[in-house]
Parts: sequence; C-alpha cells; structure tokens
Amino acid sequence: MSLQTLGVIAVYINNNKIEELDFFRKLSVYSGKEGLQIALFTPQDVDDHKSEIRALFYDKTLKKWVRKRTPIPTLIYDRCRYHGKATYQMLSKFRRTHPNLNYIAKPLANKWSIHNVLSGHARIASSIPETHPYSSALLEKMLKKYRSIYLKPRNGTGGRGIIRVSYLEDGTYQIQGRYKNRQIFNAERVQLKQLPSKLRKHYVNDQYIMQQGIASLLVNGRVCDFRLLIQKNGEGKWDVTGCAGRIGPTRSITSNLHGGGKAITIGSLLQQKFTKSQMSTIKENMYDLSTIIANALEDHYGSLCELGIDLAVDPHGDVWLLEVNPKPSREVFKRIGEQNTYLTAITRPLEYASWLLKKEQER
Ligand SMILES: Nc1ncnc2c1ncn2[C@@H]1O[C@H](COP(=O)(O)OP(=O)(O)O)[C@@H](O)[C@H]1O
Ligand SMILES: [Mg+2]
Repeated sequence: MSLQTLGVIAVYINNNKIEELDFFRKLSVYSGKEGLQIALFTPQDVDDHKSEIRALFYDKTLKKWVRKRTPIPTLIYDRCRYHGKATYQMLSKFRRTHPNLNYIAKPLANKWSIHNVLSGHARIASSIPETHPYSSALLEKMLKKYRSIYLKPRNGTGGRGIIRVSYLEDGTYQIQGRYKNRQIFNAERVQLKQLPSKLRKHYVNDQYIMQQGIASLLVNGRVCDFRLLIQKNGEGKWDVTGCAGRIGPTRSITSNLHGGGKAITIGSLLQQKFTKSQMSTIKENMYDLSTIIANALEDHYGSLCELGIDLAVDPHGDVWLLEVNPKPSREVFKRIGEQNTYLTAITRPLEYASWLLKKEQER
C-alpha cells in the first residue's frame, strides 16, 4: 500500500532544534495505520524552484530522522508557533507562495480579534468575561464593577506579560503578574491614581486587552482553570478529546503549565467545590460551549482541525471562556496519566487528515 504524505511545517527554535520534535516522532510512528507518512519541514527547507522540500522522515527501524527530498505535500499540518519576527515572516512567505495547499490548521488572529468574532455569537457572548482594549480610564470603571481585572498582551502566550489588578479591602489596589520572560514579579500595593503609571512601567499599553477576572481560586489561594482539547475526528466532525485541570504555583496569577502550573484530572479539581451532579452539568456545559466555539471560529476563519480552549469555572459553577489556542499542545493529558486521551490527541489529526485525503480522491 502506498502511503500518502501529510506535511508538518514547524520552526527551528534555539540551537537549530525543531520545536515539538517528540510529538512529530509520535505522529510519524502512528501515521502508517492511517495510510500516511509524515514529512516534517521548516520554511528554510523549501526549494521553491523545484516545488520540493528537504523533509525529515522518521525511520522506525533506525530510530532516527532521515532527510529526503520530496514534492511539497498538498496537505499541511501547520504547527509553527510564534518565535519572533524572522520565523514568522518566513512562514508567511511560505503561505503566500503556496496558497493552494490544504492547511488543516491555521494561525488565528490575536486575542482581541478572536474576542470580537466570538462575542458576536449570542450563545458564546454570555460566557465571555467582559473584555476591552486597555485604557486607563476604562480600567478604573471596570475596577468599580469587578474585584479583579486581568491585563493580557493581545499576542501573548504561555502567561507571558499577564498582570492582574485586584481591589483590596483597605481601598488600595494590588498589582501582580509576570514579566514578558514569564518570571513572576513582586506584588505591589498602590492607590487608584498611581495605577496608570505603575502599569506603564510594566509595559501595559494599547496592545493589551483587559478582562473581567473570574474568581476561580482554590481554597489555598492558588488560581486554577481548565484546558479542553477539541479536535476533528476521522469523520470530519468536532469531538472533545479531553479536558484537564491546571493549578498555578503559589504567587502566580496564571495556571499555564510552562509557568509552573500543575496538571490534575478534571474530576479531582471539580470535586473540591462541586457535587457529582453539579460536576456533570459543568462538564456538559464545557463540552457544549467548546463545540459552539469551534464551529463559530470555523465559520469565520475557514476549516480548522483542533483547538485548545482555556476555561474557568466560577463559584456558582458557571463556565467562562478565557482563551482559544489554535496550536494546542497535548502534554497536559500525559501529565495527568490519561494515556488513552493522550494517544487520541496524537492520532486524531492523522485520522482527520486521512479522511480529508479520501474525500479529495472521491471527487
Ligand atoms: N479573565 C480571567 N480570569 C481569571 N483568570 C484568568 C483570566 N484570564 C487569564 N487568566 C489566567 O491566566 C492564564 C493565562 O491567560 P490566557 O488568556 O490563557 O493567556 P496565555 O495566552 O498567556 O495562555 C489562564 O490560563 C488563567 O489561569
Ligand atoms: Mg492560555
């Protein structure tokens, strides 16, 4: 049986290392079952004159990556994350030069644009915390309405540059958060009047959004939220692969795993606050909301294959959308020991790609 090729485009990070190489190895190992082979390449490996790439293929017998020239595959799984302007420009150029390839994953826009798309949908809007572009005057108004406000860079990821302003009982405000390099900075207590200048010192500008903080604190004061993975399955339909809880480290206002967050099963996290029947309603709401979000984003941005959705649950058990990630990692399921979910998270893009290729051939 001849294998069809799924191209995986990725980027080099430091020391010429390809990001997520271990994931790509696993994709390659499981691809044969779906009648596929993985051709891994970066924008630097493209030879436009010959419409060829110098791709890496994983050799299961030799247990190593082998480089071979191959035509540019027609189906592409884009796993490039933002690592600075240079790689971003190379990737954009590749997309511009090859607009007719079938990209199963797409870079979505920034947090504010995604917010605007989703807030136009009645069933989603009520689950989105109030969000605006940052302005110091509006921040003051929002702080009258909510106890805490999250400030996030529009293009940020992994908890970088996120700041929380909270109202304290004595009438002052606390600023907490992380620098752009993700390090936690020391909390500061300031007067309302001092807020704009203090925030400017933390590089908060019009490239930030501000968002109603969702009170999703654990008893011991740590922040927690949930990461849900929704993927297209082998029938081309959206299906929730799994959902896990994340608990931030002490002093942290974010729960991201790369910022020291701990992964925990959804059940263990929810049972700390909710009854069994509340838990199943919350889970159902999470799954429903995520499916509606996936369809709404697809209507706007064109077809997608997977999304990582950050959700918070407030003390009433209401589910809130914090963020949508178009290039989600699947490590959280490995960390909580859900091996089957982890495996499904790896194999679903292969099943979906194989379904797409079959559909194309039938045409
Ligand atoms: N509005 C909010 N209310 C409560 N917690 C939030 C809010 N926004 C973000 N967080 C916390 O900060 C983390 C990072 O925020 P997120 O919007 O997902 O940005 P990033 O792209 O950096 O992951 C979330 O996982 C959550 O722990
Ligand atoms: Mg996030």
